[in-house]
Amino acid sequence: MKRTVRAARRLRGTIEPPGDKSISHRAAILNAIAQGEAVVENFQTGADCLATVRCLRALGIQIESPAPGILRVHGVGRSGLREAAVVLNAANSGTTLRLLAGLLAAQPFFSVLSGDASLRSRPMGRIVEPLRAMGARIQGRADGTRPPLAIEGGRLRGIRHRLPVASAQVKSALTLAGLYAEGETVLEEPVPSRDHTERMLRAMGAAMVANEGGLRVSPLTGELAPLGLRVPGDISAAAFWMVAAAAHPDAELRLTGVGVNPSRSGIIDALRAMGANIAVEEERMSGCEPVADIVVRSSRLQGAVIEGPLIPRLIDEVPALAVAACLAEGETVVRDAGELRLKESDRIRTTASELRRLGARIEELPDGMVIHSVGALRGAACGSHGDHRLAMTLAVAGLLAAGETTVHGAQAVAVSYPGFWDDLDRLVLR
Ligand code: S3P
Repeated sequence: MKRTVRAARRLRGTIEPPGDKSISHRAAILNAIAQGEAVVENFQTGADCLATVRCLRALGIQIESPAPGILRVHGVGRSGLREAAVVLNAANSGTTLRLLAGLLAAQPFFSVLSGDASLRSRPMGRIVEPLRAMGARIQGRADGTRPPLAIEGGRLRGIRHRLPVASAQVKSALTLAGLYAEGETVLEEPVPSRDHTERMLRAMGAAMVANEGGLRVSPLTGELAPLGLRVPGDISAAAFWMVAAAAHPDAELRLTGVGVNPSRSGIIDALRAMGANIAVEEERMSGCEPVADIVVRSSRLQGAVIEGPLIPRLIDEVPALAVAACLAEGETVVRDAGELRLKESDRIRTTASELRRLGARIEELPDGMVIHSVGALRGAACGSHGDHRLAMTLAVAGLLAAGETTVHGAQAVAVSYPGFWDDLDRLVLR
């Protein structure tokens, strides 16, 4: 499917972004192994989170959806999962596959996890190697470094593991395994990654301590309590509108109920460093996560250096940020972001090559990019490479570019933001 986006004359309006993808996955998985029923509101209905629900159902979990975005998860307790009779299909979702691999490594049955062509090409050694060190028996393509993964679940022992790169998926997979292991599991990260798993597990009664020595996960001694919650709006979805508003000459957008967990809010800091006019209003707690309304207005943007500990706090937002950087004055450099090459597409290569079609001047670095100011983008045909975030990045570029932009593979947005194109139509005043 292709979508044509025309230059927006004005951008105005209010958007409630879809539920946070990371938190939605965790709300389903963690409540599945709790004892009792939990209602999750504002659950994200993108394909990734639905893949998690499908896998959990195959593992014997009853999950009802009485209304769109509402999930009633009937937790079966820590020992209640059952062997699935089918291959667990994580589709495009790294979070589904990696978190479930950690959980299933500790269950007394056999599981096979796979996904689409993109997911089957993504690295799994980062979870398989430490899980094997915990005693897990896992086979997979390329010595267990690529899906499908076949897991002969069983008893595990806690380990101390230093993650070579910050990754919440790896940290969460090993945390889930650690809940079932004998002895403590200690996880150290070079730079902190998103902490949703820790926040939720603590609220459910698990013992976990985070300090400079790392994250210490103790084995469960009792059952986890179910955690009813309203999932905050996804800052990674809001980011597209933040960039669009900041870089457009006549814009004011209000984004309501957005999750502003400090481990996720790097996009606000990066855009502000570039001179963006962003107000964070009505900050409040929604369960264990902070949320706020974010108002973004037309801004004069300058280039910035985006690197170091900021990177894990905005890793999924770098493609969108690149659009703002094209229209900023001066040069923007993104470094320390080699992980982008291992996402749903190689996002350094695909962001650079597709934005170049619209007139961007971007040089690839092994771990980032140098984005030169071009003053203006011009509409062109471009493609998503099947990557949801690239499809939305190109749509935002299209709103800011002169003339008409055609985004091929536009359906990819359904992975994390099924209502994206409708929201775009509502915000644009012509
Ligand atoms: C996620 C963690 C990040 C992020 C992904 C979602 C999560 O990946 O890019 O979109 O839900 O834990 P890594 O753990 O690979 O950094």
